[in-house]
Amino acid sequence: MDDDVNGAIRNPPARLVVGISGASGAVYGARVLDALNDLGVESHLVVTKAALLTLSQETDLSPDELTAKASVVHKLGDVGATIASGSFRTLGMIVAPCSIKTMSEIATGVTSTLLTRAADVTLKERRPLVLMVRETPFHLGHLRTMTSLAEMGAIIAPPLPALYARPSSIMEMVDQSVGRTLDLFGLDWRAVRRWEGLKS
Ligand SMILES: Cc1cc2nc3c(=O)[nH]c(=O)nc-3n(C[C@H](O)[C@H](O)[C@H](O)COP(=O)(O)O)c2cc1C
Repeated sequence: MDDDVNGAIRNPPARLVVGISGASGAVYGARVLDALNDLGVESHLVVTKAALLTLSQETDLSPDELTAKASVVHKLGDVGATIASGSFRTLGMIVAPCSIKTMSEIATGVTSTLLTRAADVTLKERRPLVLMVRETPFHLGHLRTMTSLAEMGAIIAPPLPALYARPSSIMEMVDQSVGRTLDLFGLDWRAVRRWEGLKS
């Protein structure tokens, strides 16, 4: 899938890095993994310790059930993993959800974990980095950090509900947000309800 045998065609591999950090909304990360499975896209997952806390507080999923959704699971401390190198080709990375702590680490280039290292690599390779930042309200420092990340090329995509899609459940709202962020990688997930103009 990566390259053709002669090396003449070098398509980007259908492979996405997925980070799940400890902001509210672990279900977004879980649904990203479900969507990538539906789409036949290889997922490389890295999860923070705080994300395991939110997972247990907010969902019925166990850590094993979450990681079983991923094609490859990387340890948070494994900075020698494939996704820590820009030479490992991917479509980009999504952090779903993205905590203020993880966002701030990415913005400063501190990269003390594999998650933030992989995000830094995604930025330096000029691949799409989508951050589903979740906090409210934001203080000026949060907003400045988001501006700085946007200037570096990251896409700030907070998981805000699209009420025009008339969701009838929380999962429909989650899936709409997940699908719209996957649009940013050129991935078209069936769960997205697309605007078809005003109804007469
Ligand atoms: C139930 C729960 C909900 C949380 N929600 C948020 C949130 O929405 N946004 C945020 O930035 N931090 C939130 N936090 C705090 C983060 O988990 C905490 O700052 C943590 O250090 C983030 O670490 P990480 O970025 O390595 O995952 C929450 C924590 C818990 C336990």
